[in-house]
Amino acid sequence: MAPIIRDFQAGDYEAVARLWEASDIRVDSREDVLFKLRRDADLFLVAEDRGRIVGAVLGAFDGRMGSINRLAVADSWRRSGLASRLIREVEDRLRARGARRVWAWIHDHNHASRTLFARRGYEEWPSVVTASKSLTEQPLAEAPEVSGGDLTAEAREEPSA
Ligand SMILES: CC(C)(COP(=O)(O)OP(=O)(O)OC[C@H]1O[C@@H](n2cnc3c(N)ncnc32)[C@H](O)[C@@H]1OP(=O)(O)O)[C@@H](O)C(=O)NCCC(=O)NCCS
Repeated sequence: MAPIIRDFQAGDYEAVARLWEASDIRVDSREDVLFKLRRDADLFLVAEDRGRIVGAVLGAFDGRMGSINRLAVADSWRRSGLASRLIREVEDRLRARGARRVWAWIHDHNHASRTLFARRGYEEWPSVVTASKSLTEQPLAEAPEVSGGDLTAEAREEPSA
């Protein structure tokens, strides 16, 4: 039987964290997840197969646009359409809230995910560079120079907050 898709519940945290870890996805702390649930709780979904968490996706809505993050499917369920179902469910919920567009951030080397999102109608924006800044750390004394060169491996890592 196909896994059911339902809202994440606090008791799912350990299983979801294990799934993210096994899927090479950054694991949000329990505190971060609980904080997130204070808003958009209905956009954090899991797929459950006979009591086992086999999929997860963290959607978000900023009041204008939606985003899809932390999508993962357990090895045993890959290529069965489960990620597509999770994406479709988040999209439906975002649409119901009035979102007009949904974004996904995908590492450029993640061909499986790029193919998945392309198949679901997502358009890539190669001319757009992602920039972010931590609001929980002290500001830098001096901003680093922006150059056309390659970033260091450290700078390429996904930011932690
Ligand atoms: C990427 C991932 C979420 C896909 O989950 P999935 O449930 O297997 O995806 P689906 O079965 O819905 O795949 C739908 C389509 O996406 C494409 N696709 C999915 N996985 C693919 C792969 N490994 N290689 C090439 N295309 C792939 C295929 O076109 C597939 O259709 P098909 O099976 O009929 O050929 C899963 O492999 C995963 O959890 N990977 C590790 C974590 C990750 O990269 N998450 C995405 C972060 S942005």
